[in-house]
Amino acid sequence: MLLVFLILLVGSVISQCIATKDQTTCSHPAKGNPKFPSNFTFGVATAAYQIEGAWNIDGKGPSIWDDFTHNYPHMIDDRTTGDIAADSYHRFNQDLKALKELKVTHYRFSISWSRIYPTGDISSRNQKGIDYYNGVIDKLLANGIQPMVTMFHFDLPFELQKIGGLANPLIINYFVTYATELFENYGDRVKSWVTLNEPLLYCKSGYGEANYPPQIEGAGIIDYLCMDHSLKAHAAVYRVYKSRFYNRQHGKVGIALDSQFSLSNDSAVVNRAMQYNLGFFAHPLFSKSGGYPKILVEEIAENSLKEGRIESRLPDLSGKWKHIIKGAADFVGINYYTSRYVVRAKTPNGKNPSLERDYDLDEISDPKWTRGLSRWLYCVPEGMESILKFIRDEYDNVEVIITENGYSDKGDLNDLDRIHYLKSHLQAVLNAINDGCNVRGYIYWSLIDNFEWQRGYSVKFGLYSVNMSSPAKERTPKKSAEYYRRIIETHSIPDDI
Ligand code: GAL
Repeated sequence: MLLVFLILLVGSVISQCIATKDQTTCSHPAKGNPKFPSNFTFGVATAAYQIEGAWNIDGKGPSIWDDFTHNYPHMIDDRTTGDIAADSYHRFNQDLKALKELKVTHYRFSISWSRIYPTGDISSRNQKGIDYYNGVIDKLLANGIQPMVTMFHFDLPFELQKIGGLANPLIINYFVTYATELFENYGDRVKSWVTLNEPLLYCKSGYGEANYPPQIEGAGIIDYLCMDHSLKAHAAVYRVYKSRFYNRQHGKVGIALDSQFSLSNDSAVVNRAMQYNLGFFAHPLFSKSGGYPKILVEEIAENSLKEGRIESRLPDLSGKWKHIIKGAADFVGINYYTSRYVVRAKTPNGKNPSLERDYDLDEISDPKWTRGLSRWLYCVPEGMESILKFIRDEYDNVEVIITENGYSDKGDLNDLDRIHYLKSHLQAVLNAINDGCNVRGYIYWSLIDNFEWQRGYSVKFGLYSVNMSSPAKERTPKKSAEYYRRIIETHSIPDDI
């Protein structure tokens, strides 16, 4: 009798745990066709500084991330660097093996500008750096994998920082010259280009809040200047591609924007939040009217006047540049990880001035949302579906590629939470497609565990684990790799995990 009681008791405790687990894992309801379109593409992403290592090999010059990790080690949680990282520079074949196992159609990786031009300028052109990426591109294509190349993923050549980096308008010309070098060398084989990765984030963190290199404390002023120059640099590269390369290369050029959806019952609040985030770059590029969103232009000008300034802190985007920028992208890359509820700020946020102060919204997370290991990462798949619908409605259904989406944990191979994240977010993408959104591809961040910026190696996003303590840096698939492969093979989202 006692035994029966104990069995029942243990059974009920276990089922309660499962029930609790089910309630807390992230999920998203399916709507419509259960299959992705046959031409939908699936990929994985990485970035040079996070995986390559070989920081000073074969003529590579230092980047601002080399300087940051070497000279400000306390800024990185575990005081590590990307000097060796996953050593992909020497071990690309191991990455290729993983890509083939996954059966992805696309691999998104970034080129280290200071491998191509060690000082950032054409005068320092480095053939060995150019050859390295030729090898990567050729091997991918020989294995039926399309390269998607990001030109700039945070690692600005250090020499260019000495002249102010992205705060100097000269950066536009430097970037165009570098991009032209890439088109000339790789454009015969690369058909998908991403100019800049997450300009809002690197400007805000690097030129506003000073917690990323180059650590400039210019909130609400220099970060806006960085965004303005980034937008112009992107558009100038797009125009060069169209006028000089498109006719023979036939590729597409886009930009990867960091995004989150802002949830609220009040549509005016949602709109305000979206314009201050996604809209900063998306409005000038994809809206009918062009230029920065009206609400930003008006409010930031008004705030600037109140502060006693003679000019708005948000540079004017009128005339020539407005025209050059409008329509200057073949697709929008969306890096989507999470969302927040938003309400009007109860008390002023951030420093005066700052983007937070101008933004004037409080962001709130829901205690029901499950969390990744990264502090900011809550699982909100409904935000993914909503942002895609927002883009459909606001930007004339421009072509979208999810250029990043991923989940962080401590690195367990049995990564069920990552599978739930992947499953629910791909369901959200599929629902959006079923609802007429023009989403053409999905790219998971990341292929392998890597150097996660200020979190060093303490936080892992990979589908493959990397043995960081071994010189051979062996890659091992996690359970999520197998699940993602099944999605790719079936073009649908398996229920059984
Ligand atoms: C993005 C970034 C990636 C990666 C990811 C996860 O902001 O583009 O490099 O680190 O976040 O945090």
